[in-house]
Amino acid sequence: MNIHTYEKAWLVASMVLIVGFIATITYGAVGPGIAMIDDDGGSIDPAQINDDERFSEPGVTHLGGNRYEVAVVAQAWSYTPSEIEVPANSEVTFYVTSRDVTHSFTVVGTNMNTMVVPGQVSQMTVKFDEPGEYGILCNEYCGEFHHTMEGKLNVVPENEFDMTELSVEAPEQVQAGNETTITATVSDGKQTDLETTVSLEIGEQTYERDVSISGAGSESVEFPVDTAELGTGDYDWTVTVDSHEETGTLTVSNETSGGDGDA
Ligand code: CUA
Repeated sequence: MNIHTYEKAWLVASMVLIVGFIATITYGAVGPGIAMIDDDGGSIDPAQINDDERFSEPGVTHLGGNRYEVAVVAQAWSYTPSEIEVPANSEVTFYVTSRDVTHSFTVVGTNMNTMVVPGQVSQMTVKFDEPGEYGILCNEYCGEFHHTMEGKLNVVPENEFDMTELSVEAPEQVQAGNETTITATVSDGKQTDLETTVSLEIGEQTYERDVSISGAGSESVEFPVDTAELGTGDYDWTVTVDSHEETGTLTVSNETSGGDGDA
C-alpha cells in the first residue's frame, strides 16, 4: 500500500502530539509533587481544637536538626498564627485544620496549596532552601470576608532565626529600703542547648546572670534590686537577652508616704 508522503508526515505529527499530550499530563500529575489531601494528617473534632495537643497552641515547633513542624488553625477569616517564621534550609511539615468551614492554605507563588476541611487535618512537608517572604491566601470561598483572609510566611536566613523568648515580672512600686526582685524568664523552643547571659539595667545598677537551657525549655533568673542604693524616684529598667529586650519602670517610693497603716 502506498501512503502519500504528506499523509505520512501528518500521521507522524499527530502521533507525536498524542504522545506529547500524555507526557505533559503525566508530568503534571506526578512531577511537581502534587497530591490529593489524604488521611495522613488524621481527623479532628473541630469543637475540640482548643484541647488538642497540636492545635491548642498553634505555631512553630522545632523537632531537631533542620526539621520543624507548624500547626495552623484556619477560621473565618484568619489564620492562627497569622504570621509564620521558619529558617532557610529547613524541612517543615505543616498541619492545618479548620475551626468552621472549608478554607484553603495557599502559599502564593509556590506549589504549596491545600484545602482545609473542618474535621480533617491537612498535612504537607515542604523544603525551604532560600530565604523569602510569601503571602498566604484562602482560595476557597468561605463567606463575606473571604477576600481578607490572609497570612504571611517568612523564610528567614538560618542565622537570623531564633526561638528565644523573654518575659519579665517586675513590681511597679516598692518602698525605699525594701528588697525587691525582678524575675526574667527565658524560653527557647530549639532542641539545641542555649547558653547565654541575661542582664538587667536599672538606674546606675547593672546585674548579669548566666542561663543555660538544655533542649526546648525555659529558665528563670531573679535579680534582687537594692532599693536603698537606688533611692526614691522612678527608675526605668531594661532586661536584655541576646537580641530581646523588655523594659518597664519601677517606682521607689518614700517609706512614710507608702504606708497608710498609721497606728
Ligand atoms: Cu477562608 Cu476563604
